[in-house]
Amino acid sequence: MKISKVILPVAGWGTRSLPASKNIPKEMLPIFDKPVIQYVVEEAVRAGIHDVVFVTNRHKSVVEDYFDRSVELEELLEREGKTKQLEAVRNVAAMVDVMSVRQKEQRGLGHAVGCARNMIREDFFAVMVGDDFIVGDDAGLVQLVDAAEKYQMPAIGVMEVPADKIDKYGMVAGTEIAEGVFRITDMVEKPALGTMDSRLAIVGRYVLPSEIFDYIMRQKPGRGGEIQLTDALAAYMKEKGMLAVKMKGHRFDAGDWVDYLTACTYFGLKDEQIREPLKKALAAVLKRF
Ligand code: G1P
Repeated sequence: MKISKVILPVAGWGTRSLPASKNIPKEMLPIFDKPVIQYVVEEAVRAGIHDVVFVTNRHKSVVEDYFDRSVELEELLEREGKTKQLEAVRNVAAMVDVMSVRQKEQRGLGHAVGCARNMIREDFFAVMVGDDFIVGDDAGLVQLVDAAEKYQMPAIGVMEVPADKIDKYGMVAGTEIAEGVFRITDMVEKPALGTMDSRLAIVGRYVLPSEIFDYIMRQKPGRGGEIQLTDALAAYMKEKGMLAVKMKGHRFDAGDWVDYLTACTYFGLKDEQIREPLKKALAAVLKRF
C-alpha cells in the first residue's frame, strides 16, 4: 500500500477565528513564522506524501499560491543576499505538488472530501483537517500510514478527550488489538454528552480507501444537515472494518485561541534566536496579570 496523496479541505469560513480570518483564510494565519497550513503540509511530507489536493472555495486561492514559486521575490532576496529567507521561500515551493478542486457550496466535511473524488486514482489516500496540527517526532499522519500498511486496513487518528468534550468531536469506540491501535466498533459524529463511554475523539487525520467515495456519495445529510465524513466512515466500518490509532505528540487546534497562542509561543521558544528575549518578554507580560 503506497499512500502518495492527501486531500486537504480548506473551504471552511473559519468563523472561530474572526475577525482575523475575515480577509485572510484561517489556514494562512501565522503560527510564529509559518502559516498554519505549512505545519499541516509538513506533517504530510513526514508521512511520505508529496501530492496535495486542496478542496478550496473562491476566497482561498492564496493557499495554493503559497506552495508555488515566487520568482520575483526569489530574485530580490538573491540580489540582497538574504540567503536564509531565500532558502525558506524556495523550500516551501519545493515541498509538494498541488492540485485543487472547488467546493462550490458548504455541505460538510464528507461533501468536501467527495469533491476531490476525480483527483484520486490510488487505492488508498490520506485526508487531513487543516485546523488540527500535531507536533512530535514520528507523531501524526505517519502513524496512520504505518498502521494502514501493517494491517492493510483504513485507519483514522484519535486522541483521548475529557467526557465533557465528546459533543465537539467525531467519537469512536473500539477494541484494542495492539498498543494504541483499536478495531473500531462504533463511530458517532458529535454525540450528546453522556451518550458514549469512549473518550476517543477523531482528530482530523485519516487514511482511507478509494471505495469510501461510493459511501460518501450515498450518504444522507447528518448532524447539522451536513454530509458528515464520520457517517460515511461508520457505514464502511460496519461492512469492512477500520482502525483507530492513538496519535502520539501534542495536538494544537488552530481555531481555538488558547491553542493558537500556545502554539505561537511554543514554536517561538523552540527557536534559538528568539528564545531568551521571548522568555524575558513573556515573564514581564505575565507579571501584569
Ligand atoms: C470535524 C469532524 C469531526 C472531527 C473534527 C476534528 O469536525 O467532522 O469528526 O472530530 O473535525 O477536528 P469539525 O471540527 O469540522 O466540526
